[in-house]
Amino acid sequence: MDINRRILVTGGCGFIGSNFVRLLLEDHPDWRVINLDKLTYAGNLKNLEGIEEDEHYGFVKADICDAKTMEELFVSEQIDSVVHFAAESHVDRSITGPAAFIQTNIVGTFTLLEAARKTWLDESWKGNEPRFLHVSTDEVYGSLGDTGMFTESTPFDPRSPYSASKASSDHLVSAYLHTYGLPVVITNCSNNYGPYQFPEKLIPLIFHNSMTGKPLPIYGDGKYVRDWLYVKDHCEAIVEVLTKGQNGQAYNIGGNNEKQNLEVVTGICDTLDRKLGLPKSGEARRNLITYVKDRPGHDRRYAIDASFIKEQLGWEPKVSFEAGIEKTVDWYLANQEWVASVIDGSYQKYYEKMYS
Ligand code: NAD
Ligand code: DAU
Repeated sequence: MDINRRILVTGGCGFIGSNFVRLLLEDHPDWRVINLDKLTYAGNLKNLEGIEEDEHYGFVKADICDAKTMEELFVSEQIDSVVHFAAESHVDRSITGPAAFIQTNIVGTFTLLEAARKTWLDESWKGNEPRFLHVSTDEVYGSLGDTGMFTESTPFDPRSPYSASKASSDHLVSAYLHTYGLPVVITNCSNNYGPYQFPEKLIPLIFHNSMTGKPLPIYGDGKYVRDWLYVKDHCEAIVEVLTKGQNGQAYNIGGNNEKQNLEVVTGICDTLDRKLGLPKSGEARRNLITYVKDRPGHDRRYAIDASFIKEQLGWEPKVSFEAGIEKTVDWYLANQEWVASVIDGSYQKYYEKMYS
């Protein structure tokens, strides 16, 4: 089969990246997919178990901040498309240790942009029409009050080291279009959930703790609002933007699923009670909810207006929150070994053996 696209996916061993790599290999057998990942704590080769043998898939363990490796890879693989997921992604970690966020999210994005510029804008480039898609977040827009939604023209107002580093990388990506004419597109998405999410994030953390009888930590009053999107919907939107989006455009992607954190947590608990029955204690799992100290600078509400991507590219989310939570709970129940290996750290031993 002829190869029609040669795509570099950065951070393909993380949560969204691994769902995206799986989707590409299923839906686009005529694309070559190179997954480049540093395998930080959030990168897990087990997320891609079973696809290693696919002849159109390749894996490179590398840091996006390594300029020489990035430039060589663009040339050796004749990369014509980039979908850039690699990042430090957890807000709480950005509060306790911001340096890695500045390095990977800003310097790493800059390094990739330079590799793309040097390869694609050189007159010797003979590959396909190139495109650089930068995966970003709705957190760049800051926090909403009780009303209103983020649109593509909402001014940036990032408030955590994580969102400030993502906003900075979004600006760099736009600057490469305006200054050098690099063909870029940006996506700003709301909170994702689904298979392979690292259990530091709210939904998999609550699943794990409620299965093991541990307290379910709710920051502050639990009335913070997030707009939840099933991860496969996000991955499908990215393919639409990559293949049909307009250069220089940012696209908001959201789930039309605004929920308070307390609703999310009780929803998971009640789903587990229904599927598994009450735990040995005889108490509903939602009784494990424990109010804890709030996250510093906690953004109150995010809500995405995703009408532009619907009008322009015809994308809209397919999975309702209720259906998505059902699928997610079923996946975690069927993959408890995966959860256990992430919690006890043994997933890292799996690749240490491969890369020692
Ligand atoms: P994740 O933390 O699960 O995965 C990040 C991946 O990047 C890991 O595989 C990690 O090993 C890799 N990585 C980190 N630093 C690297 C480096 N220096 N070089 C190469 N690889 C490196 O993240 P996620 O939740 O899948 O998010 C992916 C992207 O989507 C991020 O850019 C994030 O900002 C964005 N995003 C996430 C969400 C969400 O709800 N999770 C929503 C909107 C946007
Ligand atoms: O909006 C998109 C962003 O969503 C992405 O850019 C980030 O990469 C992703 O991590 C996510 O950020 P959040 O901070 O919204 O996600 P998190 O799962 O950490 O928290 C969701 C909400 O739940 C938030 O209001 C904080 C709260 N929370 C979180 C944890 C981990 C709790 O109340 N208790 C917890 O233990």
